[in-house]
Amino acid sequence: MAKSLRPLIAANWKMNGDMSWVFKPADFAALYHAEDREHLDVLICPPATLLGSMLDPQQTGVLLGGQDCHAEVSGAHTGNVSAEMLKDAGASFVIVGHSECRAAGDTDAAVNAKAKAAARAGLTPIICVGETEAEREAGKAQKVVAAQIKASVPKLKSFVIAYEPVWAIGTGKTATPEDVAEMHDAIRALVTPKTRILYGGSVKPANAEALLALKNVNGALIGGAGLEMDSLVEIAKSAPKS
Ligand code: PGA
Repeated sequence: MAKSLRPLIAANWKMNGDMSWVFKPADFAALYHAEDREHLDVLICPPATLLGSMLDPQQTGVLLGGQDCHAEVSGAHTGNVSAEMLKDAGASFVIVGHSECRAAGDTDAAVNAKAKAAARAGLTPIICVGETEAEREAGKAQKVVAAQIKASVPKLKSFVIAYEPVWAIGTGKTATPEDVAEMHDAIRALVTPKTRILYGGSVKPANAEALLALKNVNGALIGGAGLEMDSLVEIAKSAPKS
């Protein structure tokens, strides 16, 4: 069944990759032809060191994004990059509030400020939310995610939500399609019908089709399986036609 929102298949390379990886979007494009991917957006978020060297999205059809940004435009913030810098280096998206960044200290307020900074720079923020295993076991998953959305999503024209249960990230454990459907339906009630809601957490070729087929799943945020272009292609191929 066709879905109304264009799926977004996003790979987060995290702290992986060297200069030889800048050619990966071309490998992806060679494996997955332009006409086949007309119905979806494919995004790679490499380390900031590679962003400026990555192949031009106009040529490969593969969009580029940052993995995090500072809330300010510039200044004395050693080790950080601003949303404007990411934009200047070729990004059109930026992930904010990834659970690894939240675990390292990003509060909802900080994520909110980063999402605003992204919009200020002309980037679309991918705002991540998700409960811990203890919160799910305590029956609080929906409450936690709703609170994160309320506090970390500013009023913006355009943004993407990524629901990533913390216990499913990099663990090989995936939430069941029933749990994902339930959470995405709950998130849908909190955001506009135009907002894409991605699922993330051990998405791989074997489980992508069932997850991407769910009504309110509009794409995936992929860690491990997005490092290899053949598995990213397999996942992209499972996306329903928009
Ligand atoms: P994973 O990572 O696919 O390796 O679980 C997902 C993420 O961190 O976005």
